[in-house]
Amino acid sequence: MIHDPNRVYVFDTTLRDGEQVPGCQLTTPEKIEIAKELEALGVDIIEAGFPMSSPGDFQSVVEISKAVQNPTVCALTRANKGDIDVAVESLKYAKHPRIHTGIGASDMHIKHKFNSTREEILERAVDAVKYAKRFVEDIEFYAEDAGRADINFLTQMIEAVIAAGATVVNIPDTNGYCLPNQYGDKIRHLKEHVQNIDKAIISVHCHNDLGLATANSIAGLQNGARQVEGTINGIGERAGNTSIEEVVMILKTHPVLGLHTNINTRNFYELSQMVSTQMRMPVQPNKAIVGSNAFAHSSGIHQDGFLKNRENYEIIRPEDVGFPSATIVLTARSGRHALKYHLERLGHRLDRADLDVAYKSFLTLADSKLDINDEDLLLLVSSNNLFSQSFEKVSNK
Ligand code: KIV
Ligand code: ZN
Repeated sequence: MIHDPNRVYVFDTTLRDGEQVPGCQLTTPEKIEIAKELEALGVDIIEAGFPMSSPGDFQSVVEISKAVQNPTVCALTRANKGDIDVAVESLKYAKHPRIHTGIGASDMHIKHKFNSTREEILERAVDAVKYAKRFVEDIEFYAEDAGRADINFLTQMIEAVIAAGATVVNIPDTNGYCLPNQYGDKIRHLKEHVQNIDKAIISVHCHNDLGLATANSIAGLQNGARQVEGTINGIGERAGNTSIEEVVMILKTHPVLGLHTNINTRNFYELSQMVSTQMRMPVQPNKAIVGSNAFAHSSGIHQDGFLKNRENYEIIRPEDVGFPSATIVLTARSGRHALKYHLERLGHRLDRADLDVAYKSFLTLADSKLDINDEDLLLLVSSNNLFSQSFEKVSNK
């Protein structure tokens, strides 16, 4: 098979990095349900869990391995034989198993987490990859805290683990520290200086501590990474991970980037709702792509422009991400055009003079009531005899 150099592989870690969030823990049946939806979404890799962390997580990896056919199923380990043995066992039913092993790469982690030296850490990294490779062909190595790691040491580490058999090299910005140009430069440096980089895929795994996870992931892809890691709704440790839906829609909206994924974007909204409900984690209304306000237009200027041509204020069609439809929200900031639109939708067409009067009455109501619904509008029509002559049921015309 010829490898498409512009194809970006999507690695979903909702069930591992996402599920680490306090309060988001799932049962095995719930994880299976989400895993099946991730398969339908078209993700390439599902990180199903960290099997050594608990018997429940081990069982989830076993059951997800049985439940999905197409995606690679991945299990996380630390760089030690015990973790790797358990992960291998948990993946025994996977059609396409992957072990994700790794260790800290920054001096901060080397000194203050492992109380070790660069030399020792390098040896442990290589040993872990070689050991995992005895059981599973597809080995992903993560260089934890790569965002803050010395670039020369990181280059040496990545070259060594590829030589040991790593097929994917993950360069996590574990603490969400990097600026997009710094992270992009890091990926480009590895692409240009790791001698055997053509034998592995570079993966980006960014956290959102400074709100830069998506921007950093895109910078990494622009500089040669071809796998992106993230979660649905961007859930994850602290401020979360990269949102898969954001990265995928950025690539789709900007063909100039020349990159594409295999994702069925129309499945995004439903899956976002499922993850939110099952993990008891509400989606913020202004969340890009899947938030309840992502396709809601509320100010008069925007509503007027949208009603003239939706592309004035819509760069993504809601149907492309499975969102029910764009909405024109009625508030005290709405204009006549939006009121007219809603009254006509309800079957009432007004002439210009009466629309003015209706609009005035609407504003009085909207100043005292946050949410104007259809019932309010119908009441506004029927309760005001002043308008009754001029309102005309469109459906009766
Ligand atoms: O953020 C991180 O560094 C991780 C690794 C375990 C891949 O989640
Ligand atoms: Zn992470």
